[in-house]
Amino acid sequence: MRAPLDTCRHILVLLLVVLSIPAWGCTPTRVVDHEQWAPEERIILQFSHVVAENTPKGQAARRFADLVYERTGGRVEVQVFPNGSLYGDGEELQALRDGRVDLIAPSTGKLAQLFPEWQVFDLPYVFADHDAVVAAMEGPVGDRLFQVLRRRGLMGLTMWSNGFKQMTSARGPLVTPEDFEGQVFRVQPSRVLVEQFRLLGATGVPIGFHETFRALESGQVDGQENTPSNIYSKKFHEVQRYMTLSDHGYLGYVVLVDADRWQNLDPEVQEALLWALEEATRWNRENAPRINAEDLERIRASGRLEIHEQTPEERAAWAAALRPVFDSFLATLHDDQLILALEELRRAGFPASEAP
Ligand code: LMR
Repeated sequence: MRAPLDTCRHILVLLLVVLSIPAWGCTPTRVVDHEQWAPEERIILQFSHVVAENTPKGQAARRFADLVYERTGGRVEVQVFPNGSLYGDGEELQALRDGRVDLIAPSTGKLAQLFPEWQVFDLPYVFADHDAVVAAMEGPVGDRLFQVLRRRGLMGLTMWSNGFKQMTSARGPLVTPEDFEGQVFRVQPSRVLVEQFRLLGATGVPIGFHETFRALESGQVDGQENTPSNIYSKKFHEVQRYMTLSDHGYLGYVVLVDADRWQNLDPEVQEALLWALEEATRWNRENAPRINAEDLERIRASGRLEIHEQTPEERAAWAAALRPVFDSFLATLHDDQLILALEELRRAGFPASEAP
């Protein structure tokens, strides 16, 4: 990840960095002359993720890579590998820990095995809206969870959004909690999500994101939960029949690096990466709801699914059926501050009258 610099080159780098700073919020358009860098001075970082390029994560990763390249005058190149083309979601965390990839952005559910605390973001009916999620990412909840990563030598640099998940099934409409009885759903590898479906009388089966289309198409599972952007970009809607707009849970990501390798990067490279990440994060949070809304319209226009808009009463019934997953998850936590923050979040988002 790191190449040595002599003093003159160091000064030149700083000058180039300063001269290449674009106005905050603008996409830089300056032409980069990367030939100024000797091959041994250039730094190539590989960024692996599992979703399509035209999704909130895919676009944020691309934007981040472009900004880093411009900001460092071509010295640092972030190569983005979308669609699990470098590592699938069962492999990317281990690849990061082994030093085979430099950056990943797994969904929080994919961290569950190593860091069960991260299942906070998988809990149904904790976040009332997108702003509540961002506040949690940036507040005490995010702080505590980022600390947990350091125990195993990882470092979270930022969190990105996708959006609220919607339920789909090929077997039958999902209106009341009873409609789930006996159905099988693909889930991410998170115990909270398995428990969520168990409480509805269904079975949650952990399956990799890349295998999900085939599992739905072959009937190995009846349904799944995901955001419109993931459903549309991976064509899940083509092999499902019913969709309920439920917004019952959230899908978000943490951008991860190996802590030791990060410490070994030159400070000016770290600074450029953090600056680009901040900009990509701002863009991601502003645009993720729009991308999902547009993809929901595309799913609607395809005419492949019967789409049910959940009523407030139906939402309250689902929330009541799923309340025990919140309580049992809280009982596994040993961090009082995290417990308090979560209780506060849920109270704010779902007062007793809405989620009895
Ligand atoms: C999923 O497995 O459904 C998601 O975590 C994929 C992703 O990264 O958005």
